[in-house]
Amino acid sequence: MKLNTGKTTCSFVFAVVLILSFLCLAISGGHDSSETKISVNWRNKERCDVYQGNWDLDDSYPLYDSQTCPFIRKEFDCQKYGRPDKLYLKYRWKPNDCDLPRIDGRDFLNTLKGKKIMFIGDSISLNQFESFLCLLHAAAPDSKITQQKNGSVTSVVFEDYEVSAMLFDSHYLVDIEEEKIGRVLKLDSLKSGEVWKEMDVLIFNTWLWWYRSGAKQPWDYIQDGDKILKDMDRMEAFRKGLTTWAKWVDSTVDTRKTSVIFQGITPSHYNGSEWNETGVTNCGNETEPLSGTIYPGGLPRPYYVLKDVLNQIEKPVHLLNITTLSQLRKDGHPSKYNAFRGMDCTHWCIAGVQDTWNQLLYVALTT
Ligand SMILES: *[C@@H]1O[C@H](CO)[C@@H](O)[C@H](O)[C@H]1NC(C)=O
Ligand SMILES: *[C@@H]1O[C@H](CO)[C@@H](O)[C@H](O)[C@H]1NC(C)=O
Ligand SMILES: *[C@@H]1O[C@H](CO)[C@@H](O)[C@H](O)[C@H]1NC(C)=O
Ligand SMILES: *[C@@H]1O[C@H](CO)[C@@H](O)[C@H](O)[C@H]1NC(C)=O
Ligand SMILES: *[C@@H]1O[C@H](CO)[C@@H](O)[C@H](O)[C@H]1NC(C)=O
Repeated sequence: MKLNTGKTTCSFVFAVVLILSFLCLAISGGHDSSETKISVNWRNKERCDVYQGNWDLDDSYPLYDSQTCPFIRKEFDCQKYGRPDKLYLKYRWKPNDCDLPRIDGRDFLNTLKGKKIMFIGDSISLNQFESFLCLLHAAAPDSKITQQKNGSVTSVVFEDYEVSAMLFDSHYLVDIEEEKIGRVLKLDSLKSGEVWKEMDVLIFNTWLWWYRSGAKQPWDYIQDGDKILKDMDRMEAFRKGLTTWAKWVDSTVDTRKTSVIFQGITPSHYNGSEWNETGVTNCGNETEPLSGTIYPGGLPRPYYVLKDVLNQIEKPVHLLNITTLSQLRKDGHPSKYNAFRGMDCTHWCIAGVQDTWNQLLYVALTT
């Protein structure tokens, strides 16, 4: 089901996506992948909210064998680092009101033919990027691949499909600059956008670094307008940084050409009270998801900030609303099964939960 064909008239199809898209197909008479935008069905909700549902066992999962994927960093390769249980690989996301199409990696590659897709954010973006590469690689294992790293940008090109997949490393989206006084986090400044706006698909994410402090905090001062501060309320800083990003989207991104997606807040599992296991302080013993559709701990505070900011954007931006479905997956993290043996209940095993994020990305871009 690939409906990404028409000219700009097709870009804003809401409720009657199917019918209209076929019409557009008929009118525009086929593909012109270099000029047409991949339509992001950002109002998917009207048909089926693919983000509300539950996890079902499905023996045909995982979608690929992690051993055959050459892109997985030591931090995320749970099977390689001795994770003994495998049930966590076997869950399929089931929306309440519809079934997700099984991800078709080849179709995904064809959809993206001639395009540049960029993940922008912190290590969670890296995590999703690697899952994305594994999915595409599994579909086209013989495709010639070239890889390059240049500064903040890692690019992986599937040559046979002319698909460029890129990762832009950015903790805050807004800038950190070296000045005389030290490193300054500038809530009002976003300079990397010059690179981003040339892409066809953008998937943004920022959250985890906003509460870092002490040695892990990569800035010395924070600039808010004219004020240089030693620190401020971090949630407020997050809101301001995001708002700068939102204004950049409205002022600079040509959304007729570039699809803009924001990855929802990724949850961690260090507080068992959130999933009815009071006293548990990590994910180390978790081997199954929560059943049902509800996470007892509710949505995290930054989700509401993100939602507020996205609501202020006038241009179409799709929220890849993965928060709740990931909250249910307390079993999806590397825990101690990574190269460093530290307890990691923040990132996600590959294969695993993020394959579903990418499946939902595929759905957002192709239906
Ligand atoms: C995101 O998904 C959650 C869980 O399904 C839902 O409660 C929330 O309203 C959704 N947010 C948006 C903006 O659709
Ligand atoms: C690396 O990036 C810099 C700055 O964006 C650019 O000038 C340069 O040409 C790039 N190098 C390669 C090998 O792509
Ligand atoms: C968590 O506990 C509450 C209160 O005891 C209960 O209503 C709810 O069903 C439980 N949720 C899960 C997922 O076990
Ligand atoms: C897992 O459960 C075992 C047995 O109940 C307990 O001894 C251990 O401390 C738990 N591990 C973690 C990481 O919670
Ligand atoms: C753990 O989660 C519970 C329930 O959501 C919350 O009341 C409590 O403040 C949390 N504890 C910490 C240390 O964040």
